[in-house]
Amino acid sequence: MTSSPKETTKTGNGVESLPRLAALLETSHEITGKLELGELLEAVALRAQDLVRCDGVTLYLIEDEILRPIVCYEEYAEEVLSTPLKLGEGVSGSVAVTGEAEMVNRVDLTGRGFLIPGTPLDPESLLCAPLKYKDEVIGVLTLNRLGEWEFTSADLEFTKGLASLAAAAIHSARLYERLADSERNYRTLFNSIGEAVFVHDPETKRLLDASDSAVRRYGYTRDEILNMTILDLHPEEEQESRELHVPANIQDGVTHYRGIHHRKKDGTLIDVTISAVDIELRGRPARLALAVDVTEWHRIFRELEQARKLESVGLLASGIAHNLNGPLAGIQGFAELLRATHPGLVELDLILKQVYKINEIVRTLMLKARNQQEQKSRNIQINALLRTELSFLEANLFFKHEVEKSYEFDPMLPEVRAVYGDLSQALLNIINNAIDAMRDSPRRLLQVRTRHADGQIIIEIEDSGIGMSEEVMSRIFEPFFTTKPPPDGEQFQGPTGTGLGLSASGQFLARYKGKIEVRSRVNQGSVFTIILPSAKQAEAEQPPGEEFTVA
Ligand SMILES: Nc1ncnc2c1ncn2[C@@H]1O[C@H](COP(=O)(O)OP(=O)(O)OP(=O)(O)O)[C@@H](O)[C@H]1O
Ligand SMILES: [Mg+2]
Repeated sequence: MTSSPKETTKTGNGVESLPRLAALLETSHEITGKLELGELLEAVALRAQDLVRCDGVTLYLIEDEILRPIVCYEEYAEEVLSTPLKLGEGVSGSVAVTGEAEMVNRVDLTGRGFLIPGTPLDPESLLCAPLKYKDEVIGVLTLNRLGEWEFTSADLEFTKGLASLAAAAIHSARLYERLADSERNYRTLFNSIGEAVFVHDPETKRLLDASDSAVRRYGYTRDEILNMTILDLHPEEEQESRELHVPANIQDGVTHYRGIHHRKKDGTLIDVTISAVDIELRGRPARLALAVDVTEWHRIFRELEQARKLESVGLLASGIAHNLNGPLAGIQGFAELLRATHPGLVELDLILKQVYKINEIVRTLMLKARNQQEQKSRNIQINALLRTELSFLEANLFFKHEVEKSYEFDPMLPEVRAVYGDLSQALLNIINNAIDAMRDSPRRLLQVRTRHADGQIIIEIEDSGIGMSEEVMSRIFEPFFTTKPPPDGEQFQGPTGTGLGLSASGQFLARYKGKIEVRSRVNQGSVFTIILPSAKQAEAEQPPGEEFTVA
């Protein structure tokens, strides 16, 4: 392949000439700079061909006890590359076994050569040097010259030097590849975690790495993160907090922190729990912290707490109502007695009127408490349920004094079979939303209508409030979707929300094959239509229960 042989430098008995040493040094610079194995092997082969001057060069690597040709420059390269050698096979194979370089001139006359299938048996000389790293042969560099052109001992020495340089470079490139592989594995693992993961220097606190989800969730770019410390993720006033510096517990080498807040780039605060472990990153100690966003969980927890409190307040209220009954009956009895004896006393009528009112309140309170406690399905009169709920809402002063009401209840409304609390909660959530929507409206009219058709009960709750855009309307049944500020916001007087009302209503009604339909116009108001099968209809649709006898 190469042009005619021409020794440019005169060489003598194993003593290298200066230009060859310089070339070796230059080669060393070139190949040790290459970290990609394929590229490195090609550079070694080309350099060998260029510096030693020969007709062909083949670079073999030992893989699974086989000498595999990786790079070959010569006329029959294709044949050579498709012929792996066994250890011990031919001169290259035997060098792979002995680990000693060999120069065999006119190999065709010695019978030591291995004839590669598809190539002619031409006169040829071989120079094979082992690629040896710390006594381990990892491959063989094989050069050949054709015809009468033979190798010299100077060529042998030079090639040995080149081969040992190449072996060291191959070893580094392989190490680098393995490192790059493990770095890739680490990255893949790191980025496959759905929660945010940060790595920081435990001494300087500087952030060294962040997972893709950390970048996505926090809104910072990776570069911004790499210019921050782990403390910058926390609100300033909490950077010295006890929670941040005293772990909640340490288990199996993992340190857990609770009650921590992180601030996203847009300023939003989130509740997080942190689990941290000490690791080594690129040879240096580092700390990996998994930050789990628990904001949503905390919100649900607060909701449940609130519900529990309300439940106990409800129980307390029904107890009080019960205890009021006695004294109230006393007042009523004496007042009625007085009226009989002093028929002219107008004030007495006024007192009695108030007493009847209190009586009514106490009665509904007890009824509601009892209904609310029920867990079993029964036939329910929706009109009565609505009346009770609406009369309770009168405790809300905005509703009582500032909302006009119009109720139209169908006197022939069939009953619905359900757990009372499910229906009252489902309807109350919708009515509460209607009241909230009218907080700032010029006209505040709440209309509640019931009617029936084809065995279905239809309840319409209409408000003249702010209404909803298409976009809002498409999301209102999603849990946690809300356009209202959270309930724990300080000093806020207006409506607040958790975004659970409608999703809960939907779930409650679905238990009874109920549906909710919504119509709304921005700044005009909204109509929520609830359609429920009547008890009779539900019974008719119910598949007949399995009959069985107990013996
Ligand atoms: N009648 C209505 N008029 C205008 N918007 C409404 C109405 N009903 C619901 N919405 C919109 O739907 C959203 C979700 O309602 P949902 O009842 O699920 O949650 P919320 O009222 O925000 O909070 P809460 O959990 O306290 O009920 C509301 O935030 C509001 O934007
Ligand atoms: Mg609501």
